[in-house]
Amino acid sequence: MGSCFSVRIKAESPLHNDVNSTYGNKEGNDLSSTSSKASPVSVPTTPRTEGEILQSSNLRSFSFNELKTATRNFRPDSVLGEGGFGCVFKGWIDERLFTAAKPGTGMVIAVKRLNQEGFQGHQEWLAEINYLGQLHHPNLVKLVGYCLEDDHRLLVYEFMARGSLENHLFRRSSYVQPLSWSHRMKIALGAAKGIAFLHSDKVQVIYRDVKSSNILLDSNYNVKLSDFGLAKDGPTGDKSHVSTRVMGTYGYAAPEYMATGHLTSKSDVYSFGVVLLEILSGKRAMDKNRPGREHNLVNWAKPYLTSKRKVFEVFDARIQGQYSFSAALKAANLANQCLSVEPKFRPNMVEVVRILEQLHDSNDVGCSQNEHHRISTRKSTGSGPNSKHRRMSADEACNEKATSYPRPSTSRLHI
Ligand SMILES: Nc1ncnc2c1ncn2[C@@H]1O[C@H](COP(=O)(O)OP(=O)(O)O)[C@@H](O)[C@H]1O
Ligand SMILES: [Mg+2]
Repeated sequence: MGSCFSVRIKAESPLHNDVNSTYGNKEGNDLSSTSSKASPVSVPTTPRTEGEILQSSNLRSFSFNELKTATRNFRPDSVLGEGGFGCVFKGWIDERLFTAAKPGTGMVIAVKRLNQEGFQGHQEWLAEINYLGQLHHPNLVKLVGYCLEDDHRLLVYEFMARGSLENHLFRRSSYVQPLSWSHRMKIALGAAKGIAFLHSDKVQVIYRDVKSSNILLDSNYNVKLSDFGLAKDGPTGDKSHVSTRVMGTYGYAAPEYMATGHLTSKSDVYSFGVVLLEILSGKRAMDKNRPGREHNLVNWAKPYLTSKRKVFEVFDARIQGQYSFSAALKAANLANQCLSVEPKFRPNMVEVVRILEQLHDSNDVGCSQNEHHRISTRKSTGSGPNSKHRRMSADEACNEKATSYPRPSTSRLHI
């Protein structure tokens, strides 16, 4: 694992909290609007003050010592992952009492610990509690509780056994089994459903940080979106967009958002297109280790996506033969639409879900002889099954400790 000190430059508050809000608990006024709705799907009622957010009835407030015990003193070998906010540790709690439990007993949790001080870190911590404390959906990670004590800011989630999509797509080791095409389609669909829920009329939240490291997988490859630190309420009334400081991750953020700070749900659609491209290609959105013209995955891949002859150039060589030509074209076309420069030409997430459902349900897998030939004679990408960069199987990935590698982190995107 890395040092756990990557820097995430903080954003403005995505909350409707009072401007005077500072560290520490604050009493809210009207709690009548904060009751959480029944699972599996519920929607938020905003705005809320910090006090209201922290009093969400379904969240447990943990002491720092409880989480220290639950994670065995934040043991470095229990690090599950690391983002801009801080490190995420594996821990155990009693499932009824929610007190620290012996490792291997009770309920497994993931504990995210903010590693930076300051107002913005606090705001992102609060944003996650605000959204995940209210939003309940099968494709969103469950927040169990939080800790607010002195300078400590932590979040406690359900544990996701297979970690992040990023780990599965890009982690390299000698025992690699790539994610299958059908798992890739299942994951793309699950992520799309989660985002579609956020964009739905009754929720209207813009996620703002769609990327493979924020897409978590349970033991059956079911997707749950995590990391709501940058989420923001969508435009209301007759407004077409929300104006924000530009936040997100290079390689994923939509071009018009980077240029203007105007945020819409179509910004998420673009970022989803980037993730879909990562899923299809097995390549990172940004990778300076690739040849110059391939640094930025979208710039490199886009010309191929609409070409029947060249579309396979984009596809991950490690899963060749697992999908049909028509499925490949359909998936490539969907990615291309999501990545339209003009937001209005991007589909909405409901349409994206519809197309991915067809791809996921399709039995039309495998390639014809011709297609096989076409695929197998294409130029090697250097990441084929025999390459030294083979990936580990999902099980192996789960069992292996997180490793450190260059990865994109969320930051303020300078325009
Ligand atoms: N609930 C969880 N279960 C398992 N692993 C997790 C969980 N939450 C986060 N992780 C791991 O930690 C990484 C960072 O988590 P994330 O919430 O994205 O943090 P940040 O806000 O710092 O970006 C994820 O990419 C994933 O590998
Ligand atoms: Mg993250």
